[in-house]
Amino acid sequence: MSDKTMSKEEYLNKAKELDTRTEAPKQLEDTDFLTVARERRSVRQYDPEFKIEESEIRELLETATQAPSSSNLQSWRFLVIEDQKEKERLLPIANNQQQIVDASVVIAVLGDREAYKNADRIYSQIAERGNMPQEVKEMYVNSIMENYGNFPKERQTKIAHIDGGIVANQLMLAAKAKGYDTVPMGGYDEAKFMEAFNVPETYEPIMLISLGKGTKAGFEKTRLPLDDVLKWNKF
Ligand SMILES: Cc1cc2nc3c(=O)[nH]c(=O)nc-3n(C[C@H](O)[C@H](O)[C@H](O)COP(=O)(O)O)c2cc1C
Repeated sequence: MSDKTMSKEEYLNKAKELDTRTEAPKQLEDTDFLTVARERRSVRQYDPEFKIEESEIRELLETATQAPSSSNLQSWRFLVIEDQKEKERLLPIANNQQQIVDASVVIAVLGDREAYKNADRIYSQIAERGNMPQEVKEMYVNSIMENYGNFPKERQTKIAHIDGGIVANQLMLAAKAKGYDTVPMGGYDEAKFMEAFNVPETYEPIMLISLGKGTKAGFEKTRLPLDDVLKWNKF
């Protein structure tokens, strides 16, 4: 390896060394959506003593799962890792990123490539509420089973990643609005994680999210100018 690059572990952990500030993440008085969206930051330092109640985690996940999904099939699945021993087991799989063990929980966001199998359950609810005639519901369900069931694995994977990315961000914003902090993590060994945590093989690993009470604010936003990433009408 050239001395101008870093190992993955160094790369992921360097931020903490660089960040010598001490201020805690901003506690928002105003939690309107635009403020929350602007103020959320990836936070990598957490109070290891702080525990979030299960009821609050459930509330955050309920809010997150109001997100849109492909054909409302809600392919997201979650594994909440709150047991300290389990977090310790995850630590080396996630490149020894300290937030894995310090944050209250790690939420693994997963995506079920076979989520289409719930089509009847989901669409029956809509029909039972009187929002869809029974025969239309049946047509929807049959079409979903036929289409999604025959999509190649890459397409099912892509759908799982799109749904999973949307729900993950909604979870992080909900957490910020409730006074908590998060960091999304793709820096882990997916295969080892799937094996170590017995994740069903029809599930895709999307990302890990540390959730807890942050002790250090995280970096100020740096973003490309909007006009560098924006075109109108045509390329
Ligand atoms: C898919 C994905 C994977 C990421 N993986 C990691 C990670 O493994 N470790 C980490 O510290 N940050 C990770 N991040 C956080 C980014 O570094 C961070 O979002 C980015 O620097 C912008 O900062 P902000 O979230 O504070 O706005 C990841 C973000 C995303 C969206």
